[in-house]
Amino acid sequence: MKFEQFFFGGDYNPEQWPEETWLEDVSLMQSAGVNLVSLGIFSWAKLEPQSGIFDFEWLDRVMELLHSHGVSVNLATPTAAPPAWMVHLHPQILPVTADGTTLWHGSRRHYCPHNPDYRGYAQRIARVLAERYKNHPALAMWHVDNEYACHISECFCEHSVAAFREWLKLRYTSLDQLNFAWGTAFWGQAYGDWNEIQPPRRTPAQKNPTQQLDWTRFSSDSWQVCFEEQKRVFKEITPAVPVTTNFMSFHRPIDYFKFAQLEDVVSLDSYPDTSQPDWMVHSAMTYDLIRSLKKDNPWILMEQAASLVNWRQRNAVKRPGVMRLGSLQAVARGANGIMFFQWRQSKFGGEMFHSAMLPHAGTDSRTWREVSALGNELPRLSNLLSSKVEAKIAILMDWENWWALELDSKPSSDLKLIPNLQAFYRQLYERNIMVDFAPPEADLSSYKLVIAPNLYLVTGIAANNLNNYVANGGTLLLSYFSGIVDNNQHINSGGYAAPFHEMLGLTIEEFVPYQAGFNNTIRTTDGKQFKNTFWADVVHLNTAETLANYEQDYYAGGPAVTRNTFGKGTAYYLGTELLPDGLEWLIDRILEQAQVRPDLPNLSAGIEVMLRSDKSKEWLFILNHTATSLEVPTGKNGTDLLSGQEVNGMIHLSAYAAAVIEQERIYRGVV
Ligand code: GAL
Repeated sequence: MKFEQFFFGGDYNPEQWPEETWLEDVSLMQSAGVNLVSLGIFSWAKLEPQSGIFDFEWLDRVMELLHSHGVSVNLATPTAAPPAWMVHLHPQILPVTADGTTLWHGSRRHYCPHNPDYRGYAQRIARVLAERYKNHPALAMWHVDNEYACHISECFCEHSVAAFREWLKLRYTSLDQLNFAWGTAFWGQAYGDWNEIQPPRRTPAQKNPTQQLDWTRFSSDSWQVCFEEQKRVFKEITPAVPVTTNFMSFHRPIDYFKFAQLEDVVSLDSYPDTSQPDWMVHSAMTYDLIRSLKKDNPWILMEQAASLVNWRQRNAVKRPGVMRLGSLQAVARGANGIMFFQWRQSKFGGEMFHSAMLPHAGTDSRTWREVSALGNELPRLSNLLSSKVEAKIAILMDWENWWALELDSKPSSDLKLIPNLQAFYRQLYERNIMVDFAPPEADLSSYKLVIAPNLYLVTGIAANNLNNYVANGGTLLLSYFSGIVDNNQHINSGGYAAPFHEMLGLTIEEFVPYQAGFNNTIRTTDGKQFKNTFWADVVHLNTAETLANYEQDYYAGGPAVTRNTFGKGTAYYLGTELLPDGLEWLIDRILEQAQVRPDLPNLSAGIEVMLRSDKSKEWLFILNHTATSLEVPTGKNGTDLLSGQEVNGMIHLSAYAAAVIEQERIYRGVV
């Protein structure tokens, strides 16, 4: 998708307001620099008040009004909010939980993705919308549904069971293959007929791990199918109009790497908890993931809060300057659009205390002033619309691995992927080193360093990819409980981490998951001591050298951190979990060896730096997340696009302020 301007705006729900308000809305939008709104997201009941009876006149008037005020429309399909009549006519569209409870009408997302009646209605409303607005000059984009798999991610109704069986038939073609993959020889679970197969419902003891994994794969695919059905309609009727749906951070139920390939542009809803001192690390990591889903393509921040949300126990305001800073953080990490939930704060309904661009207090308010100031300054950044973020490090992220890793009955049920990804990510964030996320089967050749935390499930293709990456000169850091199972979740024979033995130059005999509160220490070969926690692998070296050994317990003296030269590259292995100081030591060593350096070294804590660049220019984003004014080195001279001022090697940033310095492109980062 080509961006001609930064998008700025939000969800617009005019159906909650009398028509008199609409005129005020559009003129305020104009004054706040709004150029795009997401319209009609929950309007199904108003657009189709009875089955097949449509009322578009109000929407026609809204579209015209927006268009005449220079606001384009990201037109939504309202399919996340099936109307009451549909539920009344077809109660079987309602989703059913694993224990058989039906979830009723009265909020939203109350549909089963496998229900044929629902899917028919959804495609029909998409088609009617597309036919009606296909030539409307305000139509800029299609927004399909809203946050797939939010609130409910799976359905256990009879339609879902039937769809699961069909999905399994396609995947395995024969029951013999399914029985093999699911390992049904264990506990006599063999199937002799497809109709005997059930989803992983409540069982007396451990469920079949592969059955559970396939169910999650299937459920993830099902949301994709719903999206694709609507997208097909749009591609038929409005082939040139981009299609998106709004994603949600590290959202476990859907494999976003897979899903994103179906979208013309990736978009994200982001609600960091700004009461947490490290909120910006969480949002940075999310933005880097979202950018990586469609590498080298800009994305859109489709929703964020202007200030507080209303769904946490205690909802933090965004303090003065924080909303702007967070928005610029998204731009720094590849966003070409800053949008909000929602335009005007609701007067009623479940979200009336959720902040909005135009708050209950009206325009004489801090929120409005900050929102309209941002909308009016974003166009100053238009030079960088076609720039990219070029990272030299990738952290591997694989949804299937995430699902499999966190199923029950593991050596430790406390092993969770995202906190571990974050521990590595934080090390790089704090050094202001740019990071992509990549699936393990991706082309990794452009990265100097790849970090793979807990890559428990690894396909043959991924294992080859990683081995080749190192053999061809890459540096890899793999952490414990990696390479353990194949695609079917069967143990890889030949000792743990078998697909990587040669590359790592070691074998792993057993795991030692620690009891809560138990720690150990490691002693490094350069004389340092660090605490390690949670887990220890009992490792036997082959060609690898040890960089640190355990100090206590029966495996004392055994390697905790190793390094091995493999082909032209180097593979590091971390057989335990380190606290931040130990991780800092390890990452420093690896970065030095991989020759990756920060763009601007030795910055004060709380300063975030990112770079977007094109062939001839680069834009250095400097964000001050602290409550104090700071002098920050800028590396070289340029112009701060936000203030319009020339910068000579140093910039003064007041509390929560930011600069975007346009500079001639130089060779940076990688020595
Ligand atoms: C999002 C959703 C919006 C709104 C918002 C509130 O998840 O897409 O419709 O509910 O949360 O934070």
